[in-house]
Amino acid sequence: MSAYISKILGVGSYLPARAMTNDELSSLVETSDAWIQERTGIKKRHIAADGECTSDLGVEAARRAMAHAGITIDEVDMIVLATATPDLTFPASATIIQHKLGMRHGMAFDVHAVCSGFVYAMATADNFLARGQAKTALVIGAETFSRILDWTDRTTCVLFGDGAGAIVLRAEEQTESNAGEGVISTHLRSDGSFCDLLYVDGGPSSTKTVGHLRMQGNQVFKHAVNKISGSIEEAAKIANVAIEEVDWFIPHQANYRILQGVAKKLGIPVEKVVSTVADHGNTSAASIPLALDVAVKDGRVKKGDLILMEALGGGLTWGAALARF
Ligand code: ACO
Repeated sequence: MSAYISKILGVGSYLPARAMTNDELSSLVETSDAWIQERTGIKKRHIAADGECTSDLGVEAARRAMAHAGITIDEVDMIVLATATPDLTFPASATIIQHKLGMRHGMAFDVHAVCSGFVYAMATADNFLARGQAKTALVIGAETFSRILDWTDRTTCVLFGDGAGAIVLRAEEQTESNAGEGVISTHLRSDGSFCDLLYVDGGPSSTKTVGHLRMQGNQVFKHAVNKISGSIEEAAKIANVAIEEVDWFIPHQANYRILQGVAKKLGIPVEKVVSTVADHGNTSAASIPLALDVAVKDGRVKKGDLILMEALGGGLTWGAALARF
């Protein structure tokens, strides 16, 4: 039994002002609103302005999460940023966010697990808090995937968008009265033998360039439903919770058909699955906290609800996290 539990105190998100519709994309590559909606459920995505970086998106989401939690930056002693699109190769964008938030104590670092990044970052922060090594963590997912897209490749450029989301986690001594609150279980997996299904074809140590996202979409799709379903079952089993007890599923938003496929496989009513892919596209590590924020602010997810977050992304990496909001 951990000495501490990690309670979710607040959530916030930020989307760049500019929204790009499917019709706008149709003027760039040979595609159509009908194809994109039918195959993915996406209607639009947001694109960061010139000069607007991942850290800028993350800072705004973090500020909103802190405001929702009713805390100030002085109380935060850990920032974990999930991103695959850092401002610079180094330092970690988490430290840039730390600086922009005016925080000079504690620690800040990035976690890189592409679209599974937020689940990985939350599990990381939860473990630090459980060990008493930090008290209050900002867990942020922030991405500017528009910068690594090949805008001539219709098989990928229609899928992604920019955005950020964040939660505040606070360590609270575990007692009998708060048992089962906060982060309850996390389950992480990866298998690097699938790394060529989804990758960026550049990097400082290989090509010395940034590169562009490459994906064998239909291959990734095949892995997504099975691996995500398995992770959900594992996270529920570790916590001794039946899947039917979960109030809300907050999945990574890659494709509406994957969300539906997982729900069908596990017998989850689709009304319990929060979906924002239509409005945000795939924002990689930002998509889970973005979706959570939407569902909290519109009143669906309430204090005390059991929520299950899950994702699959490049690596392949995948995982799930169960928490009481
Ligand atoms: N517009 C019109 N036609 C298109 C487009 C487009 N934008 N893109 C592809 N097509 C065509 C293809 O060329 C192909 O044509 P062909 O039959 O003549 O060869 C046809 O549509 C079907 O292509 P598929 O790739 O088989 O289409 P599919 O139904 O698999 O949908 C998609 C593609 C949306 C990419 C889907 O496979 C998917 O969502 N995959 C999973 C993505 C995912 O989960 N990624 C993981 C997270 S992302 C991360 O970690 C960064």
